[in-house]
Amino acid sequence: MSQIIILKKKIKKFSKEIKIPGDKSLSIRWILFSSLATGVSKSKNLLISEDILAAINVVKKLGIKVILTKNFCKIYGRGMNGYRYRDNMSLDAKNSGTLGRLILGLIVNSTKKIKLIGDESLSKRDFKRVTDPLTKFGASFKMSKKNSLPLIIKGTRDLKPIKYYEKKGSAQCKSSIIFAGMRTAGKTVIKAKKSRSHTEILCKYLKLPLKVKRKKNFDLIEVNKVEKINPLNYNIPSDISSASFFLALTALSKNSKLLIKNVNINTNRIGIVTIFRKMGIKIYFRNKRIYKGEKIADIFTSSPKVIKPINCPVNLNSSAIDEFLVIFLTVAAKAKGISYFKNLSELNQKESPRLKWAEKILNMMGVKTICTKNSIKIFGNPNLKIDRKIVIKNFLKDHRVFMASIIAALSFENKKGWYIHDKDSIKTSFPNFLQIVKRLSSEN
Ligand code: S3P
Repeated sequence: MSQIIILKKKIKKFSKEIKIPGDKSLSIRWILFSSLATGVSKSKNLLISEDILAAINVVKKLGIKVILTKNFCKIYGRGMNGYRYRDNMSLDAKNSGTLGRLILGLIVNSTKKIKLIGDESLSKRDFKRVTDPLTKFGASFKMSKKNSLPLIIKGTRDLKPIKYYEKKGSAQCKSSIIFAGMRTAGKTVIKAKKSRSHTEILCKYLKLPLKVKRKKNFDLIEVNKVEKINPLNYNIPSDISSASFFLALTALSKNSKLLIKNVNINTNRIGIVTIFRKMGIKIYFRNKRIYKGEKIADIFTSSPKVIKPINCPVNLNSSAIDEFLVIFLTVAAKAKGISYFKNLSELNQKESPRLKWAEKILNMMGVKTICTKNSIKIFGNPNLKIDRKIVIKNFLKDHRVFMASIIAALSFENKKGWYIHDKDSIKTSFPNFLQIVKRLSSEN
């Protein structure tokens, strides 16, 4: 099947309700927690994507039985010490930074050498952010000078608790340290810049020995050794990062309305909602509720009359980190004025250097930008007309580059056509993305 999607026309107005697949961060965490539980855990609405299959394969390789069907997933946890480590075994995190970084925290007690590998994109990403704190616990690493994969970890049974300041606002880094802390006798203390709190919420729900003191700009997290995790049945809510593509599409379509049901609205994930509201786009949370500690809601949005530019507060960076690309290519490109996003060097640390590439794509679209290593000014144009062939190719098969480009193409008409490559990249996080696009494009 062709890997290229060619689009020449804007989407027509729509008024629909859609369902988005399960949250990626929660799906991976459910797999990892369940793999250490004593007994059988069952999930519904687990995201079935390549990142999640990679996580399942990793725990299977560590000796954990998993049954995955269309409707549910069952994990037969063997307790905190249930992983079977073999000398020189290799674990493949594929494209998933979350899996690669979190699993290292859980295998810090392996006295056997374990190799961690990933795909081309993951092999370019920084792992020092987790190997540094894990070294302090007592693990040792062999890694290239670029601090990237492949790496070899050798853990220890004599782990020492640590005190660590996580300054990047990286939930992967924070979670990796929490996991290592769960394996370590004594009190591990993490001062963590605010980021998504799924790991802490799951720990709390499971009554594990973890405490969080919330301060204004950071959280103080204390974690002690975990002896036992009870099995966890979980109905995974929908992913706000996947939902965001369609919030952006609605914002750029005329007279359209959209309802997305049962979405996880963790406080540290909804930066996009705050940003959209500041830009004059109405978003409502309906039927708000709490599910196993996580906030859930149905999200309703409609097309605005005008989109205002934004000087984006930096305290929203971590909570919108996966959404900036689609924000840049759609609402910021169309806003009436200049939008400014700063302190965003982390965006170049993702599946691809997304800040750099946002600039490239915006310039192809004819949108003026001023970009530095960690900031971008976007000169929005409410009357933007594109009249040149745009080819989106060779972006390290980044799923979010593909999806954000599709949404931009459906929002800005271009008679010469958008040629968007690497369709398969959506398998990473959102395999039915194009089906939902099709549903919104159809009359009924
Ligand atoms: C994630 C954390 C974020 C995010 C990623 C998922 C997680 O990464 O970009 O898609 O599940 O913890 P960082 O922790 O590197 O910011």
